[in-house]
Amino acid sequence: MALWGGRFSTGPDEAFKQFNDSLPFDYQLAEQDIIGSVAWAGALEQVNVLSSDEHTKLVAALNELLEEVKADPQAVATSGAEDIHSHVEAALIEKVGDLAKKLHTGRSRNDQVATDFRLWCRDTADHLLGAIAALKAEIVALAERELGTILPGYTHLQRAQPVLFSHWCMAYVEMLERDESRLQDAKARFNFCPLGSGALAGTAYPIDRQALAQGLGFTGATKNSLDGVSDRDFVVELLSCASISMIHLSRMSEDLIFYNSGEAGFIELADNVTSGSSLMPQKKNPDALELIRGKTGRVFGAFSAMMMTLKALPLAYNKDMQEDKEGLFDAMPTWLACIHMAQACIKGVKVNGDKTLAAAKGGHANATELADYLVAKGVPFREGHHIVGVLVQLAISEGKTLEELSLEQYKSVNDVFEDDVYPVLEIDACIKARQALGGTSIEQVTKAVKEAKKKQQIT
Ligand code: ARG
Repeated sequence: MALWGGRFSTGPDEAFKQFNDSLPFDYQLAEQDIIGSVAWAGALEQVNVLSSDEHTKLVAALNELLEEVKADPQAVATSGAEDIHSHVEAALIEKVGDLAKKLHTGRSRNDQVATDFRLWCRDTADHLLGAIAALKAEIVALAERELGTILPGYTHLQRAQPVLFSHWCMAYVEMLERDESRLQDAKARFNFCPLGSGALAGTAYPIDRQALAQGLGFTGATKNSLDGVSDRDFVVELLSCASISMIHLSRMSEDLIFYNSGEAGFIELADNVTSGSSLMPQKKNPDALELIRGKTGRVFGAFSAMMMTLKALPLAYNKDMQEDKEGLFDAMPTWLACIHMAQACIKGVKVNGDKTLAAAKGGHANATELADYLVAKGVPFREGHHIVGVLVQLAISEGKTLEELSLEQYKSVNDVFEDDVYPVLEIDACIKARQALGGTSIEQVTKAVKEAKKKQQIT
């Protein structure tokens, strides 16, 4: 039975019904809808719309329904009701008859759906926060395992300066920490309860909305009924959190795909996150990482779709808002799955330290050290930069590294060079020199790892 038939002389066209119904996707709000309804029943008892006996009966039936829904959520999706709110009401009528029809007093599906959805977002955010923490811990563990490994650092995908492999790891821990705090921040902002806002103007019953909100675990009640029913900032914020985090996961995937390539050979991904080719027996493809990179586009799509949907909506509720769900219902589990998968990939990474070291030593990645050496000898940096450029050209023409050039060759370019230039060019010296906060020296990276581990213990 529809919730609104009285004013209509005919029912909806089948095509319109299918177009309008949201149950095929908002069945996912079943638990939240029932939990919100239990709280609303309590509020109605307090304002004497329900007797204590009626309240007890309704709550018992709602709890029974909750168990049924938990046991078989898919069954809800196919009941044929218009939406989850209609479904729950119809199921309740089956259990307690006309009494169920009192539950919607003073409530609208507009404040109801806004409440259900925020409850869903809260649960989902908590799952995501747990998954991000676990991924961070996995990356920190890899950083600890590989503390001595040297990797070429890149800019423009050209070898630039050597860095510790663990420094690379800890860069992603930084990003994930921001993802975590962004999500906590969004949660703190959306954890307010619109129930009791009515359709748009507020409810005509003297409901204690703060108590109602707190009973549902919200920080408090929303303060303006028009805004309460029509605000979907929280959906946009969550999709933005998801999109930014997916950028990080995608960039990490891209780095690892490159490191795992035959050309680089820096790492080997484990068998359990790679797949083979149906034709080429030698292949071991980084599918998990490619899928993380690929799914990133899907999450961005949901984010921009939501912004487009909301941008010109007049206050207050409009049916356009029903479009808020499918994108989020797809994007959040996608994000969660990508975090889990990234963790599985990181867990099995085997680093080939000889290859990373050899690559870090190539590409004249110690040229900056040479410029700094000249600075220490009193040569202005810009001049030193030019001198080193000439030396790099010389090394390239002879097919040599900078440390393979003879002192005579150095002196032929500038006579400030002495024997003490060679220790400066050693790769360990390049790493060791980066002692300032945030640099790639062992001391700084060890400190970052320690701090990350300390935070893990606190949370
Ligand atoms: N299914 C709707 C949604 O998801 C909620 C119902 C509001 N319907 C209405 N006619 N005001 O937004």
